[in-house]
Amino acid sequence: MLAAPLCYNRPMRFLITGGAGFIGTTLANHLVRTGHHVRVLDDLSAGDPSRLDARVLFSRGDVRNVPNLWTLLQDVECVYHLAARISVPESVLYPLEYNDVNVGGTVALLTAVRDVGVPRVVLTSSASVYGNQPGQPVHETMQPSPKSPYAITKIAAEHYLFMLGRLYNCDAVALRVFNAYGPGQRIPPAHAPVVPLFLRRALTGGSLVVHGNGSQTRDFVHIDDVVRALTAAASVPEVDGQVINIGSGQETSIQDLARVVGSVAGRAPSIIYNESQSPGVARLVADISLARRLLGYAPEVGLEQGLNDLLKIDGQFERRKLVAA
Ligand SMILES: NC(=O)c1ccc[n+]([C@@H]2O[C@H](COP(=O)([O-])OP(=O)(O)OC[C@H]3O[C@@H](n4cnc5c(N)ncnc54)[C@H](O)[C@@H]3O)[C@@H](O)[C@H]2O)c1
Repeated sequence: MLAAPLCYNRPMRFLITGGAGFIGTTLANHLVRTGHHVRVLDDLSAGDPSRLDARVLFSRGDVRNVPNLWTLLQDVECVYHLAARISVPESVLYPLEYNDVNVGGTVALLTAVRDVGVPRVVLTSSASVYGNQPGQPVHETMQPSPKSPYAITKIAAEHYLFMLGRLYNCDAVALRVFNAYGPGQRIPPAHAPVVPLFLRRALTGGSLVVHGNGSQTRDFVHIDDVVRALTAAASVPEVDGQVINIGSGQETSIQDLARVVGSVAGRAPSIIYNESQSPGVARLVADISLARRLLGYAPEVGLEQGLNDLLKIDGQFERRKLVAA
C-alpha cells in the first residue's frame, strides 16, 4: 500500500489521459482510494479498464478529440497526461502514428486545457530522451540526445508542454520516468518490457534472451515510487516549468537483472546472449536529486523487493497470471 500523498489537504479533481494503462491505473486507483475524484480517458488501444477501481469515472475516447476533452476537463484541477504509444521499436516502424498520438495528443490536450482553464498539467516524459550521455547518472540539465521516434515524440511533447503552458498560464511539470515495473504491466506479443518478460520466461521454464552482451544498464523504478512522484507533482508548489527525473537512482545491468529474476522466481533460467540484437544505449541511470528536493521523492522499493512483491500480489494470482499470459 502506498503512503499518503505529500501535500493534499482536501479532495482534488483529476483527469488522467491514458489512465487505463499500466501507470495510469495504479495512479487512478491510488488517488480514488485516498479520497480524490478521478476521471480517466483512454482509447483502449493498449489499456484495460477492468483493473480500475469502480469509483474511477472511465471514458473511452481519443486524446486528440478536443470537444470531448472540453467536457472531461470541467472542474479538473490537475491533468495527468499519460496517453501515448510507448514502444521504441514500434515507433521506428510507425513514426507518423507515434507523432500523431504522442505529439498531436499533447497539443490537443493543451489547447483544451487553455479553453477550459485547468491550473496544472503533469506529463509523463521518458528517460529515453537522454540517449547516450558522456556521464552517468544523467541529470536534467544534460542535452537530450533522442535515439528513436518515440524519444523524439517525448522531448517534443515536453517542449509543447512548457511553451503552451507558459502562454496559457497553466503550471506544467514533466516527469522523465525511467524503466517502470510492477503489478499490471502488460506483456504484449512483440517488444515486451524486459522485467515482466523475464519473469514470465523464468516462471515458465523458458530462456532469458539478453540483447547484446547484457552489460547495458538501466534504472528500474517500482510503480509505487512512480505514483508517489506523480502525486507529489500535482500537489507541491513551485514546480512549474520543471523537468524532473523519476528513477530508483540504482544502475542495474541487464545480465544482473536476469540473475535477480531467476533467483526471485526460484529457478536458474538459461540466459541466451543475442549479440546481433542492438542493446540500445550503453548506460542509463537517473540522478534523482532534483526529485528529492522539489517533490520530497525518496524511492522506497528496491529491485529485489519489488520483484518478490510482484510475485506475491494477491497470493498466487500474479504468478498464475504471469504463467498463463
Ligand atoms: N512504463 C514505463 O516504464 C514508462 C517509462 C517512461 C515513460 N512512460 C510514459 O508513461 C505513460 C504511461 O505509460 P504506461 O507504461 O502506463 O503505458 P501503457 O501503454 O500501459 O499506457 C498508455 C495508455 O495510453 C492509451 N492510449 C494510447 N493512445 C491513446 C489515444 N490516442 N487516446 C487515448 N488513450 C490512448 C493506451 O490505451 C494505454 O492505456 C506514457 O506516456 C509513457 O510514454 C512510461
